[in-house]
Amino acid sequence: MTTDQTEIDASTAVRAPAAGPFDVGGVRLDRPFKIRRLGHFGYNCLDTDAMLDFYVDGLGLIVSDQSPTMPARLPAEQRDRLSANERLLHFTRFGSDHHQFVLIAAPVWDWVGRDNGTAGASINQITWQVGSLAEVVEGADWIWGQGGRLLRSGRDMPGSNWHTYLFDPEGHINELFYGMEQIGWDGLSKPREMWSGVLGEAPALPMPSEAAEIRAAQGSGVDIAGGHRAVAAQAREYAVDGILMSRPFKVVGIGPVSLYVDDLDATVEFYRQMLGFSVRGRVGWDGHRGALLHTGSEHHGLALYETGLRAALGAPERADSMALGFRVANYRQLRAAVAFLVERGATEVEVPAELLAGFDYVTHLRDPDGNLVQLYYHQRQIVPAGAEPELVSGGAARWPELIDAPPDVFGGETFLGPWE
Ligand SMILES: [Fe+2]
Repeated sequence: MTTDQTEIDASTAVRAPAAGPFDVGGVRLDRPFKIRRLGHFGYNCLDTDAMLDFYVDGLGLIVSDQSPTMPARLPAEQRDRLSANERLLHFTRFGSDHHQFVLIAAPVWDWVGRDNGTAGASINQITWQVGSLAEVVEGADWIWGQGGRLLRSGRDMPGSNWHTYLFDPEGHINELFYGMEQIGWDGLSKPREMWSGVLGEAPALPMPSEAAEIRAAQGSGVDIAGGHRAVAAQAREYAVDGILMSRPFKVVGIGPVSLYVDDLDATVEFYRQMLGFSVRGRVGWDGHRGALLHTGSEHHGLALYETGLRAALGAPERADSMALGFRVANYRQLRAAVAFLVERGATEVEVPAELLAGFDYVTHLRDPDGNLVQLYYHQRQIVPAGAEPELVSGGAARWPELIDAPPDVFGGETFLGPWE
């Protein structure tokens, strides 16, 4: 999120939409990319200090980098009014991805987003991982050709991920990305000298691998161990399934994303047609409709609810999201997590069961800005119907160049790079 935010206006560009079907890794698809999972998500924060306390000290997310570059673009008189934490973008994670949850001060985004209509938004980005850099680049071209509203393409630092940003019809910023920097056993992010890899346009493929970039940086004298490492956690006094931890649970997953939308039917169609989601089911409560969508074997990774629900749930007027899901490691930890967070001051909010599906035990806690955290330990996985795959014999020389996609070809855990 460090480059220019100028919107790319597809309506003034002349570009012939590429026609399908597309070859995605030798599999025939009707768009040149496939969303594999939610990679990260960001909020523009009203109370950045309290949000950091909730998500880092409470939920246990780990700070992987704090970047001053975007807040530094504000005019001096506005920047001077920011607190120390508001002058930084906070990149956090629970796993090895450099960032899985991002916190940005609302005054910073209100300035940066003033030209693209996103000033005042509570969601900064909804970011989906695709399978390769080619899928990002060819996907952006295809979305443009379909008349989609693109914001920008390129590569961001910190995090090193290649991306394209686009708007849904409600103005929510979505991102497709490949190649998130991985944080290893030493907990270090990349050194700041490597943030010079920011790119404000789509790359010309192929690009060097990340490992080749790191070797080149080493060769030019960059201190490869000069990155950021999170400060030590609080006292580790909880025995959690055999490990001493600083809280009685571990976050192990992010998503689903639940959004408020003014036009449910149009937004469902956008996520179906443009981004390749499928509708898992429809829900409703007290006249408020919703739709649950998926891209893989998860019950749903995206839930869309009509805006009228916002007031019924007591959510703030600015809230773009109904909830953001976080999965903890097991059922016992889920119960302990709720008790721990309520003890720290969080409030549990009852969301009508009619609006939820795919969970057995799930609860919602209000964060300091008024967004809901959807806490659960398990979401139903859906096994595709149909016969066992038919083994193609005769040796690789006789295999076709392009195959139809098996119903579960993108199911299960996959390795998502960056590639060496
Ligand atoms: Fe992002």
